[in-house]
Amino acid sequence: MGKVYKAHILYTKEKERFEVLENGYVAVDTNGRVLGVAADLASLNIQCKDTEVTDFGDRLLIPAMNDLHVHAPQYRNQGIAMDLELLPWLLNYTFPEEIKYSDTAYAERMYRRFVRDLWRFGTMRACVFATIHTESTRLLMHIFQESGMGALVGKVAMNRNCPEALCEGVDAYVEGQESLIAEANSSLPPRVRPIITPRFIPSCTPAMLRACGELAAKYQLPVQSHLSENRDEIALVRELEKDSTCYGDAYDRYGLFGQIPTIMAHCVWTEGEELELMKQRGVMVAHCPTSNFNVASGMAPIRQFLNEGLRVGLGSDISGGHDLSIFRMMVYAIQVSKMHYQQNHERPFLTLSEAFWIATKSAGSFFGRVGSFEPGYEFDALVIDDSDLNHDNYSLLERLERFIYLGDDRQIEHRFCQGREITEPRVLVGN
Ligand code: GUN
Ligand code: FE
Repeated sequence: MGKVYKAHILYTKEKERFEVLENGYVAVDTNGRVLGVAADLASLNIQCKDTEVTDFGDRLLIPAMNDLHVHAPQYRNQGIAMDLELLPWLLNYTFPEEIKYSDTAYAERMYRRFVRDLWRFGTMRACVFATIHTESTRLLMHIFQESGMGALVGKVAMNRNCPEALCEGVDAYVEGQESLIAEANSSLPPRVRPIITPRFIPSCTPAMLRACGELAAKYQLPVQSHLSENRDEIALVRELEKDSTCYGDAYDRYGLFGQIPTIMAHCVWTEGEELELMKQRGVMVAHCPTSNFNVASGMAPIRQFLNEGLRVGLGSDISGGHDLSIFRMMVYAIQVSKMHYQQNHERPFLTLSEAFWIATKSAGSFFGRVGSFEPGYEFDALVIDDSDLNHDNYSLLERLERFIYLGDDRQIEHRFCQGREITEPRVLVGN
């Protein structure tokens, strides 16, 4: 027996507009997939006629959030260490913290809190960087599995320009990665999978990049990395990979640029050939506006990416970014586009429906049929009780807008992933 939920339903099939069903119904089958939405019960799919209706009353029902780029082991550094640009920031603050994840007890304490906090803010799917450490990464996959939430979890490949304790040889990397792949195949559900994760070109020798590309092709696993985030980084890549025509080309040579589904974080300075290649290959941009502010990287041309037809999602990029809420990320993305608009009036700034679509249906497409309430989509959803924000007869769209701009985890009353209600993930006692 499936489920039927009644609430004010808002989602985006297309980026140009919201679908709004006041006191609408959504039917979900036993596999957790949406059968349909309708304004009244009689119009819903026939199989649901006898299903009991769960009535959420005056609450809003929206697709859950997807975070396309986040570093779980940077959780302790969230909200601190904002005074350096990318390369010195990595060396002084980030790498020293990631080294601690050789200790699985520390990793468990931190990773459980991290996953609980993703849950809090309504993020049901995430593309996550872990560290080089195989056992801590294995733990993180299991914590996601236990939570019921979906994640692509990346053991990070890095073997140059980093402290000794964060360097792993190519053979050891491949062995560790293959053991995680075997583990996922034998004992994890499809919603938790490994993702091939070369940190970025400055951290990976050509041999490491080649190994990453080979693993991605052999096991048909997606790829994530960083691209064209910071000017000094781009200059360093030019120096390190003299034969490459652009930063993206340095990945492309190793099968790491859309030959298999790929997410590249930032792309602040992407243009020309790099942009064309991303478009051709369907490489997805993880736009991380707070991170770009905090690490002083620049402002990604998000409107241009949309106009060019690039695939785009949003990422919190903890701890370059300080904010785990993808709702807040929509606000920042709109604000970044308004700053671009100030400088160049031919490109209109992002609308709310565009930002919402980017965070839900567009980002969700990396995980399968996720991020909408169209038939066949996995029912990833949030129930929002915004009564404390709704004090003057706002319209449903105004209520959603106010929740996006002003709300937080206190208004999120229920969370669903693949049709199942997700309860608060366990953290370790005393933590
Ligand atoms: N580039 C390589 N590693 C990182 C990281 O941890 N954070 C960010 N923002 N950029 C990176
Ligand atoms: Fe990052």
